[in-house]
Amino acid sequence: MEISDISSMKLPNRPELFDFEGVSMVHYFTDNWEKVKNFQARPDDILIATYPKAGTTWVSYILNLLYFGKDDPEHQTSQPIYMRVPFLESCFKVIPSGTEMSDNLPTSPRLIKTHLPVQLVPKSFWEQNSRIVYVARNAKDNAVSYFHFDRMNMAEPEPGDWNTYLQKFIEGKKVFGSWFDHVNGWWEKKQTYSNLLYLFYEDLAEDTGREVERLCSFLGLSTSVEEREEITKRVQFDAMKLNKMTNYSTLPVMDFKISPFMRKGKVGDWKNHFTVAQNEQFDEVYNKKMKNTTVKFRTEI
Ligand code: PPS
Repeated sequence: MEISDISSMKLPNRPELFDFEGVSMVHYFTDNWEKVKNFQARPDDILIATYPKAGTTWVSYILNLLYFGKDDPEHQTSQPIYMRVPFLESCFKVIPSGTEMSDNLPTSPRLIKTHLPVQLVPKSFWEQNSRIVYVARNAKDNAVSYFHFDRMNMAEPEPGDWNTYLQKFIEGKKVFGSWFDHVNGWWEKKQTYSNLLYLFYEDLAEDTGREVERLCSFLGLSTSVEEREEITKRVQFDAMKLNKMTNYSTLPVMDFKISPFMRKGKVGDWKNHFTVAQNEQFDEVYNKKMKNTTVKFRTEI
């Protein structure tokens, strides 16, 4: 598929949120459910799993460069990242579904993206013992990023104003459900499934090179120091923002006049959005919901 096929893509009005197996969803991610559920994973597949806006594109591009950057330089400049790393559960009708794109991926390994909470991941990934990279981002920055994304992305429900949005985020009434359930569910899974690497957006921001090294070690890649340094440069926010293949500017469902996909890329932007009262309320909810988990997030670095 060519970029020109996508640039004419039009979606109807904003979708409604509904409950799907206990998780808030929109139809774009459930319409193809039989095929998603029965998706045949392979042992060498690498699944990149995240709650939306936690650093999916960042890690997708790092993995893409680690595996294919050297051998396939042409694709890096002609194929957007969302075509090289299909979004498994997506079904936008105007482009091939995520399962179809994944089935047709010529690469080995296949890099596949999902936002599904752990309990909805197709069972073949577990049966095949595929490797999974989960990326998590602190709740406050994640909520802010998701808010701006929903403002500009016509495939998402209307976000309303920031305060309305934040209350819905707290209640888990967002596409792909509750941030709390998502990060905790995947954290729990990590305790028993050894082929899962749990990364943090804040760690990536603090020292990208270190996290690239961590990824190489998890994936058993013996990438040279020079190559890792080159990749670390290419995946910096400013470079990815300018790169048409990673900045989503080829997708017309997103209105960059409202907010760009590569928006700020910062840890701590929540401080520009949360009022003192919202912050206090959020902390109270957070402490309750996170009291039984050992996963720890940083809201500043
Ligand atoms: S999506 O739509 O769920 O796939 O979005 P996702 O890629 O998970 O998240 C988008 C946010 O990640 C930021 N981003 C980066 N930050 C720092 N460095 C790099 N290289 C980078 N790439 C993407 C992107 O800017 C979005 O965050 P915000 O806070 O909105 O800027």
